[in-house]
Amino acid sequence: MKRTCLNTELSKANVNQVVTLLGWVSKRRNFGSILFIDLRDRSGIIQIMVPDASKVPDVRNEYVIQVTGTVKLKEQPNEKLKTGKIEVVADEIKVINTAKNTPIIVADETDALEDTRLKYRYLDLRRPIMQHYFDIRDEIKITTHKYLHEHNFIEIETPMLCASSPEGAKEYLVPSRVHKGQFYALPQSPQMFKQLLMVGGFERYYQIARCFRDEDLRADRQPDFTQIDIETSFLDQDQFLELMEGLIRDIFRNTIGYEVKLPLRQMTYKEAMERFGSDKPDTRFGIELHDLKEVFKNTSFEAYMNAEAIKGICVPGVASETSRKVIDNLTLEAKKFGLGGLAVLKYEGEELTGSFAKFLLEEEKPALIKELGANSGDIIIIAAGPYNRITPLLGAIRLQYGKQLGLIKPNTFDLLWVIDFPMFERDIETGNMVASHHPFTRPKDEDLHWLDEDPTKMLSYAYDIVINGYEAGGGTLRIYDQNVQKKIFNILGLGDEEVKEKFGYFVDALQYGTPPHGGMAFGLDRLAMILGGTDNIRDVIAFPKNLAAVCPMSGAPTNVTQQQLDDLGIEIK
Ligand code: AMO
Repeated sequence: MKRTCLNTELSKANVNQVVTLLGWVSKRRNFGSILFIDLRDRSGIIQIMVPDASKVPDVRNEYVIQVTGTVKLKEQPNEKLKTGKIEVVADEIKVINTAKNTPIIVADETDALEDTRLKYRYLDLRRPIMQHYFDIRDEIKITTHKYLHEHNFIEIETPMLCASSPEGAKEYLVPSRVHKGQFYALPQSPQMFKQLLMVGGFERYYQIARCFRDEDLRADRQPDFTQIDIETSFLDQDQFLELMEGLIRDIFRNTIGYEVKLPLRQMTYKEAMERFGSDKPDTRFGIELHDLKEVFKNTSFEAYMNAEAIKGICVPGVASETSRKVIDNLTLEAKKFGLGGLAVLKYEGEELTGSFAKFLLEEEKPALIKELGANSGDIIIIAAGPYNRITPLLGAIRLQYGKQLGLIKPNTFDLLWVIDFPMFERDIETGNMVASHHPFTRPKDEDLHWLDEDPTKMLSYAYDIVINGYEAGGGTLRIYDQNVQKKIFNILGLGDEEVKEKFGYFVDALQYGTPPHGGMAFGLDRLAMILGGTDNIRDVIAFPKNLAAVCPMSGAPTNVTQQQLDDLGIEIK
């Protein structure tokens, strides 16, 4: 096999040259005795013209072939192809390997179900769009290695087989054969290791790290995924974020040639929740949340009189299409957020209508319209209840309308930092205090006094990078004072014994001259997805799991033999 070049290396400059190409048959078309073949290789597609089909072997889709021929100008260029101005007139075609009829069409446009694509992933990966996603993914990694090395970072691997530790999501456990009844846990992230590397004196660490989380899957979540994991010593928050912005700028520049304007803007968590009802706000469109407590200050509507918060949004121009069914769906959405319902008002002509209108005082109507900036033809959606339920509800509805109404311009990028996250949240179900990020997050210096008074009021040095409404990365500065760390554990309900058992080695380490440190992790898959322009994380992972956490190709997870279970001392209940 003597390949002279890749398909898309050929151009008008090569006309009349004899070339030998290798690749897959992407498409064939017969015109009488003339045969056209679209030949695909790693670089792209070129058209092969066979003047007399009877002189070449039978070729079918996805056969691997070798073509020798002469580059010629095409009479009618094909604008869609990079090589569309030329074709190769074949002198000889050799079949190198045949292929069965493929269960999916190997082309960018495919109507195959996703599970079929995942089952035959190796064929799905041949599609040019998929190869494009992986080129982007690869460029992100190359840029990351280069930028971080230039900025004195060192790449260090941390273990995959770890001790179990409570860190948010559920862990995947790995039974030990040698120590029956004991388990390793796969890392949810290299969090404690990278902090220990700071205690270990490396000052600037990174790792393209595999992480494992046994959580419910979504379009932007996988059970095993990849982080660009970073930790630094001796930087304050602004210095650290500036360093990370340089990396993001280079990643955007090198993958898609987009110039990110720096510095990125920063929005507090409080503002993000107030205005967008989300800690990962998509600020590419309006429909912002408005506080309506003032509008309803004299209300006699009981649910509103006692509500902790009342907020509303105005959705432009949808009054006429807001049917009973639409309203029922919005109510269902409210129920998902643990609320009884919400109010939907149509503003048409000079009238506010809807079943809630009768509860409005006359004075409230103009105040509501003014506060929300409503115009005739708009609808107003109001939710009242606990702040932590109504804001995300309205945030979710806002997002649905933003997408549905096409308010988001394609190919635009919106990057910002969300900062000043609260240290703790109350678990909505149990009411227990939980760490908003993780228990090693450092409270803001000016908030330390709340530690003993009211920890719910504490803000932290925590930051997320939000791109187009996705949490593309997040991190924190860490506690390096062991007394503060102990108090935080206490607030989280972790007693001394439990701390010793779970984090003993870690808390110990903090006592040996821990430098002030902090870091973050970018979701590499999420970055690839955003830069590739897909909203499905599985598109940028070579062999992903489906939404049921199953790999349709290999069948994982699978049963194992009795012998394997016996070796591990495990019995299935
Ligand atoms: P966090 O849990 O926020 O932080 O994760 C960092 C980033 O990883 C990505 N991510 C995921 N991507 C795909 N599938 C998942 N299941 C998934 N979960 C998270 C997101 C997220 O922003 N150790 C800390 C970082 C630190 O404090 O330095 C951590 O893991 O893009």
